[in-house]
Amino acid sequence: MRIIRAPERMQQEIAAHRKKGSSVGLVPTMGALHDGHLSLVNKAVKENDIAVVSIFVNPAQFGPREDYLRYPRPFKRDAEFCRKAGVDIIFAPEPESMYSKNYLTYIKVEKISDMLCGKFRPGHFRGVATVVAKLFNLCMPDKAYFGMKDYQQLKIIEQMTRDLNFPVKIVPCPIVRETSGLAMSSRNSYLDAKQKLYGARIREALQQASYMIKCNKSKNTGKTIANIEKTLLGIPGAKIDYVAVRSARTLSPLNEINERAVILAAVWVGKTRLIDNIIIDTNPKRQYRISKKTAN
Ligand code: PAJ
Repeated sequence: MRIIRAPERMQQEIAAHRKKGSSVGLVPTMGALHDGHLSLVNKAVKENDIAVVSIFVNPAQFGPREDYLRYPRPFKRDAEFCRKAGVDIIFAPEPESMYSKNYLTYIKVEKISDMLCGKFRPGHFRGVATVVAKLFNLCMPDKAYFGMKDYQQLKIIEQMTRDLNFPVKIVPCPIVRETSGLAMSSRNSYLDAKQKLYGARIREALQQASYMIKCNKSKNTGKTIANIEKTLLGIPGAKIDYVAVRSARTLSPLNEINERAVILAAVWVGKTRLIDNIIIDTNPKRQYRISKKTAN
């Protein structure tokens, strides 16, 4: 496994692999790797000749009052994690080499960047889209792997990839959870044991809503959101940023859940902001196909 720091070196290395006809898979991360990341990495290793993991805490996607400086950076542990998983290259650039003093170019995916998390974290998705575009240009992957845990981010990257004609196949990967149900996240390390249990209740609230919809008890968005919010407000110290029901394809709001939908929530547990979501598939045939696939 090679560790590459310089962006130009990364481009040269990948160009050489591509010249030989090797396929390249990229997993963009900010490090502090956990089993959620591992599921993406394992897929990338399996499906490509060369698997690249980028580890870069991207300053452009953090707001001024956010946790950029505090974000965990256990690089040695992450490198060992990647080596064991069979990764070929870690790309871990320094912030100054990605954003020079004279840096001026940013990418903004309109509309879907301003809603949901974008409303509460202005500029966040502009930073995400910019760094992912740079990583695509530097690592030149055939496939890039993104978790459904960050569902809005996944949709923004899909849109950017289409709009800017990146020759990259975006591979969505299912959410990996703790046994409690809490979605794995590098930020879970900020939570104490009690807060982790509180965090798991977000998943419970979303699952409850999903059962209600599937049992045909209610397909009404307003009622669904109110029920989830009621459960979430029962979590000690919780503050809700949003609960929303959206089209799973376009992220546009739905009044009635009569197409493939996603329920998304962002909730503060103490000083930690947690996000989670659940896909609601109203087509029973499709549900069957999906559950059969995941069971294998
Ligand atoms: P990071 O939070 O490190 O996540 C890297 C990738 O792992 C993302 O695609 C994310 O959705 C996925 N991931 C994280 N937790 C997961 C879980 N529990 N299950 C499945 N996938 C999970 O997301 C970012 O970094 C950054 O915004 C990045 C895309 C790297 C741009 O800087």
